[in-house]
Amino acid sequence: MTRHFLYVIFLFPFLVYAEDGSQLWLRYTPVDESVANKRTIKLRATHDLVQLAQQELQTYWAGQSVVLRLDKKLKRLKEGYVLKGDASNIELVAAEPVGLLYGAYHLLRLQEAGEDTNHLQVEEIPDYDIRILNHWDNLDRTVERGYAGYSLWRWDELPHTLSPRYEQYARANASIGINATVLNNVNASPQILTSDYLVKVKALADIFRKYGIRVYLSANFSSPKVLDGLSDSDPLREEVQDWWKKKVKEIYQHIPDFGGFLVKANSEGQPGPQDYGRTHADGANMLADALKPYGGLVMWRAFVYNPTEEDRAKQAYQEFVPLDGKFRENVIIQIKNGPVDFQPREPFTPLFGAMKNTAQMIEFQITQEYLGFSNHLAYLAPLFKETLDADTYSDGKGNTVARITDGSIWQHKKTAISAVANIGEDANWTGHHFAQANWYAFGRLAWNHQLSSEEIAREWIRTTFTRDADFVKPVQQMMMDSREAVVDYMMPLGLHHIFAFDHHYGPEPWGDRKGGRPDWMPWYYHNADTVGLGFDRTTNGSNAVSQYNEPLRTTFNMIGTCPENLLLWFHHVSWTHRMRSGRTLWDELCVHYDRGVQEVREFQKTWDKLESYVDQQRFNEIQSKLKIQTKDAVWWKDACLLYFQTFSQMPIPYELDRPI
Ligand code: GCU
Repeated sequence: MTRHFLYVIFLFPFLVYAEDGSQLWLRYTPVDESVANKRTIKLRATHDLVQLAQQELQTYWAGQSVVLRLDKKLKRLKEGYVLKGDASNIELVAAEPVGLLYGAYHLLRLQEAGEDTNHLQVEEIPDYDIRILNHWDNLDRTVERGYAGYSLWRWDELPHTLSPRYEQYARANASIGINATVLNNVNASPQILTSDYLVKVKALADIFRKYGIRVYLSANFSSPKVLDGLSDSDPLREEVQDWWKKKVKEIYQHIPDFGGFLVKANSEGQPGPQDYGRTHADGANMLADALKPYGGLVMWRAFVYNPTEEDRAKQAYQEFVPLDGKFRENVIIQIKNGPVDFQPREPFTPLFGAMKNTAQMIEFQITQEYLGFSNHLAYLAPLFKETLDADTYSDGKGNTVARITDGSIWQHKKTAISAVANIGEDANWTGHHFAQANWYAFGRLAWNHQLSSEEIAREWIRTTFTRDADFVKPVQQMMMDSREAVVDYMMPLGLHHIFAFDHHYGPEPWGDRKGGRPDWMPWYYHNADTVGLGFDRTTNGSNAVSQYNEPLRTTFNMIGTCPENLLLWFHHVSWTHRMRSGRTLWDELCVHYDRGVQEVREFQKTWDKLESYVDQQRFNEIQSKLKIQTKDAVWWKDACLLYFQTFSQMPIPYELDRPI
């Protein structure tokens, strides 16, 4: 007994300070009674979401009195809100109940980040109607490209046992404005649409609804054939159409606010309408027609390519542009940010802006399939913004990817933005504590794509760690430098897809598996030879440049004007080519790889100096991850340089680190 007692006494301080990161950025402290008694949180509306907003403020808001009010006339706010206030009172007004919840989280964020709330004059309108996470979660709870443990969804226990994490997940999403989620992998199991699974989906949807989150499902195009033995799943056959209509009806009986389907069709072996000689439009429209009576949507992915003679980077455009205007109103084409596949750096996909009569949405990847999994610190807001801010020059200057997809330029029924989630069952949700920032950044940018990466990082650090400027400043800098560091030590100057086969973690530029798909082999992308390095996508090569509008077409096409960070994406460049720095391509490549390694070493130094500002657990866990990252960075540098050197036959500049 006594021994146990002592044990508890000794352990207690550690238990109190144990910090596993599970609270994410939601570290609000409940206010005590004396504070609560000084202010009131009044409601001028009734709705579950409004009550939740009140409850959050009641429990955590330490500031002035707040009145929450709904005003249906303020339609222009969409799911946004107005916050007005002085030192004694704040008025929070929204048109939709969920707007009041978002407004409440706005206030709590200001409080946590230590911002002034005495002079509030805020109007927030979300840039996108649908701000959606895509989970690549399988029904056996493995997660495709997931690096944070098993899936959160415990299908075997649902619908009877409800993990507390479902609600925590929903709250975290609502706190950053995410209002939709696709529960299952785009490589979809047809089983998700069986009645057995739909009751499980309903159980999750019932929880998420309390936080304003709608559920969507990835649908397997062959479901009618696989689940109910139809002779095929041809979208133009009435029996198939009826099957989907019945299935959709069943779904809405369980989930009246079901969002709709996400579909990966005729891509990487998935079934689709082309199996029956039909087009993507035929397939998408059939599902859209089934969903229409209930207000559901189809998010149809443009990530399609085949191992043909044609450059993979061109194929989505070739497939979809001819179909412009042929999709139903409730179809949105979901397009990856880059034309190949979530690489550390890609130009934007030229399909953005090339389909004026078709709604388009962007798909980012938060999970770091190609950026070091959950082992590497890579803050992705700069990557997201690089695409969002890219000018497509569709109809002249200023039509950025953000403005094309947010509906500012061409009106479409609904606007949306999506990202592949990095969330799993790990205590800290995302594997790396800093990967939480990428989930956060996606939500914040989906709400307001004008926010700067710096602002979002600062906000996240302050709410997740501490407001102390001596911590915030260096950590913010580290985050801001981190994505470019990864580009440098993995794939600088426009190199891409030279990852180890299939798992995509380490380098394998030499990869050339016998019998493998050529478009999955690194040499397909880097084309190293004794002359030089890079993929010729100019008018002399695959002519992928032709898919961009002027002046981009010419800018990318000419070696002298092509941005150097995309040089090897668009050009096959001689080893001795003079770069803007005056160095040869080979030397420049070496300098970048080396710089990436040095930067990560700096991250380690930065972090080590900050020990006194962070709890021990998170400090140690991040320190360990940075060690792995540095080791990996050296591995990448050495592997790539030693391999490319067999072609360039040039020495690594002597002032740089030597290979190990
Ligand atoms: C990448 C990824 C796959 C995924 C695919 C997709 O190719 O490696 O795991 O299924 O993207 O986005 O559909």
